[in-house]
Amino acid sequence: MTIEDLKSVYDIECASFPHTSWNMESFLRELTANQFAYYFVIEKEGNIVGYCGMWLVIDQSQITTIAVSGKEQGQGYGRQLMQHAKAYASNSADILSLEVSIDNEKAIKLYEKEGFLYGGIRKDYYGPGKDAHVMWMKLNE
Ligand SMILES: CC(C)(COP(=O)(O)OP(=O)(O)OC[C@H]1O[C@@H](n2cnc3c(N)ncnc32)[C@H](O)[C@@H]1OP(=O)(O)O)[C@@H](O)C(=O)NCCC(=O)NCCS
Repeated sequence: MTIEDLKSVYDIECASFPHTSWNMESFLRELTANQFAYYFVIEKEGNIVGYCGMWLVIDQSQITTIAVSGKEQGQGYGRQLMQHAKAYASNSADILSLEVSIDNEKAIKLYEKEGFLYGGIRKDYYGPGKDAHVMWMKLNE
């Protein structure tokens, strides 16, 4: 992901997470000031159709965000993004984790298929009454 990509990424972000979307400054900070961050996009015919971000700190890695444009969902882009994240993280990390809203069935299915395990519940993670599953997997096994 580059600074030039941010407008397209932000459009997908707002459509994907209408109540909890990050602002442009948050993405910009991740790209320019967070030495632990790695963000990447997937393109179709020159247009960004999805993106994913992660933090890598010593031997642990964490997905911070992943989304595919609404009209491009269900075509394997989410899986491709996650498989790239896993491959990249496995160069340095032993564990990859993430949080996902307990009612986000599509994302949970994707994570289960990609080998994530349930690690517990974070109460009110997305706001009052909006709990998250912590999911995690070992890399390089
Ligand atoms: C979650 C998300 C990234 C998946 O992207 P995608 O490109 O649609 O997913 P894929 O086409 O690669 O499908 C991968 C798997 O996801 C699951 N999945 C995808 N669409 C699904 C649906 N409508 N219902 C149930 N499971 C679904 C399936 O397990 C699928 O595997 P399968 O095709 O072998 O059944 C996408 O739905 C999205 O951007 N959602 C909004 C943002 C979001 O919630 N991000 C996650 C935050 S934690």
